[in-house]
Amino acid sequence: MTRHFYVTTPIYYVNAKPHLGHAYTTIVADVASRFQFMRGKETFLLTGTDEHGDKVVRAAKAENMSPRAYVDQISGLYKDLWPQLNIEISHFIRTTDPAHMAVVEEILQKIYDAGDIYFSEYEGMYCFGCERFYTDRELVGGNCPDHETAPEIIKESNYFFRMSHYQDWLTDHIKRHPDFIRPKRYENEVLSFLKEPLEDLCISRPKKRLNWGITLPFDQNYITYVWFDALLNYISALGYPHAELFTKFWPSAQHVIAKDILKPHGIYWPIILKAAGIPLFKHLNVHGYWNINQSKMSKSLKNVVEPLKLKNIYGLDAFRFFLVRDMVFGLDSDFSESALVQRINADLANDLGNLFSRVLAMVHKYFGGIVPQIDAAVEAEFAFSLKQDALDAVEEFEKTMEAFSFHKGMAATWEFVNKMNKYIDIAAPWVLAKNKSSHKQLQVVIYNLLEGLRVIAGLIYPAMPDTAFTMQRHLGAHPDKNSFAIDRLKQWGATAPGTKLPKTIVLFPRIDPKNQPSEPVSESQAPPAPAMKPAKDDNGFALATLNKTTKPGTPLS
Ligand code: MSP
Repeated sequence: MTRHFYVTTPIYYVNAKPHLGHAYTTIVADVASRFQFMRGKETFLLTGTDEHGDKVVRAAKAENMSPRAYVDQISGLYKDLWPQLNIEISHFIRTTDPAHMAVVEEILQKIYDAGDIYFSEYEGMYCFGCERFYTDRELVGGNCPDHETAPEIIKESNYFFRMSHYQDWLTDHIKRHPDFIRPKRYENEVLSFLKEPLEDLCISRPKKRLNWGITLPFDQNYITYVWFDALLNYISALGYPHAELFTKFWPSAQHVIAKDILKPHGIYWPIILKAAGIPLFKHLNVHGYWNINQSKMSKSLKNVVEPLKLKNIYGLDAFRFFLVRDMVFGLDSDFSESALVQRINADLANDLGNLFSRVLAMVHKYFGGIVPQIDAAVEAEFAFSLKQDALDAVEEFEKTMEAFSFHKGMAATWEFVNKMNKYIDIAAPWVLAKNKSSHKQLQVVIYNLLEGLRVIAGLIYPAMPDTAFTMQRHLGAHPDKNSFAIDRLKQWGATAPGTKLPKTIVLFPRIDPKNQPSEPVSESQAPPAPAMKPAKDDNGFALATLNKTTKPGTPLS
C-alpha cells in the first residue's frame, strides 16, 4: 500500500463566486483526504483557480476591471472560503503563478519537440462560452449543449495536438484499469466517446483575438488554450519535474470533478501526460450535479446556493454531513433545505445526538461521570455482538470510503449507531441499575457503549471533524486526530476505566421545520432566518441547548 495520497479538485474559473457545487467537490476532497489520513497516509489536497482565457477577460470587462485585478479579487474569495468550511488545503494554486506558467511552457515545448504538436489551418464552429470548437455531432439542435447558443464559424491557423495518435492506447489503458474512471457509468461514457474517431485538439489562440494566457514557447503570436494550461496545474503544483513533493505524491494522484468536465479529464489529460512522458494519475472520481428543482445550479439562473449562508444557519458539520450523506456519489441530487432539515433531525439530532446524550447521562447517573471498570467474565455475557458490530462497521466504512462511496460510508456508520441504540434497549441498563447484584453487568454495558461512541467519533471524523473532536473530549480523551486511525478504531478497549468525563452536552439541537427559511438560500432570496449559532463551552467547543425542539434564532444557553 502506498503511503501517500494526493487528491485534487478542479481549479475553479474566476468568472463567478463560489457556490454549493464548488463547495461539494472541495468538501468531498477534504473528506477523502481525512479518511486517508485515518488509514495512515501522508496526504496532500490541492485546489485553486483557473484564471486565463476568454471567459475571464469578458467577466473582468463586465466589472470594468483589468483581468489582473479581477482575478486577484475572485481568486481571493475561493481561497478564503475553504478554511471557513474546515477544508484543510495543502496548496492553493493559481494558473497566473509564474511557477505554473513555466511548467506549461516546458510541457508545450516537450510535446512540440516530440512532434505531437503541428500547425494547420482550421475552420470550425466555436463556442466562446466554452472556448472550444464543436463538431456537428456534439451540438444539440445546432447549439452548444452547455450555453444553448449557436456557435460561430471561425477560420484561422492554429496549433494542434495530435490526440488521434493516442486513441487506441487510451482505450486500452481504460479497459485494463477498470476503476481508472469511476463510477462505472463515466468510464462507459468515455469509452463510448472513444469509439468515434478522436479529433486533434486545437491548443492555441491567436494573440490578436485573445491576449490573456500563456504564450506558446515556440510561437510568440499565440497563447495556449485554457484547458491545456489548466490541466497542468495538477503537476505544476507539486513542483514538476524535480521537486520532492512531485516524486512523493504524484504516483498516488486522484482527481475529483463533476461530470461537466469529464471529457477534458478523461481524454485530454491522460493523453497530455502520455505525450509528455509522465505516468498517469490513479483515479478520476466523477460526481453528478447538485440541482435546484431539477436544473443545474447556475449564476445566470440566479439559483445558486451559498455555502456560508447554510453554514451560518445550520452549523458547519451538519451542512458537510448532509452533502456527503445525501448525494450518491456519481448521480445528480436535488438540493432543498427541507431535505437538509430532515437529515439533521433524523440522523444527527435523533439517532446520533440522542445516543450520545443517553450514554453520557447514564455514565453520570450510575457512575458519577467516571468510566467504569469491566469484569472479563461478565463482559463475555453482556457485550452481546457489539464489538463485532463495531468491527463490521469500520470495515464496511473503510471499503466504501476507499471507493469514493461516501454516502455508503456514512450509511455503514449509522447502521452501527442504530445497533448501539438497540443494544441499550436490549441490555436495559436502567433495569440493571435497580439491583446491586447486576452492578458488574451495568459496568460492562456502559463501558461497551462508551467504546462504541469512541468508534463512531472516528467514523464521523472525515465528514464532521469538529463534532468528532467534541465527542472525543466528552469521552475523556484529548482531541487528537491520530486516535481516529482506523487501526485504533478496530481495537476494542482503548477507553481507560477510571477516566472522569466532563459534563454532558447535546451535540445537535433539533430544528423545527416550521421555522426554517422556506426558499433556497440563494442569491435571489431575502435574508435568511437568524443564525443558529452553536454556543461554546469554556474550552471553546461547540455546545448546544438541551434536547428540546430548537427554533432557528432561539438564543442558546
Ligand atoms: N476551470 C475549469 C476546471 C479546470 S480543472 C483543470 C472549470 N471550472 S468551474 O468553475 O466551472 O468548475 C466546475 C466544477 O465545479 C465542477 O466540475 C464541479 O466540481 C463543481 N461544480 C460546479 N457546479 C456544480 C454543481 N451544480 N453540482 C456539483 N458540482 C458543481 O470547469
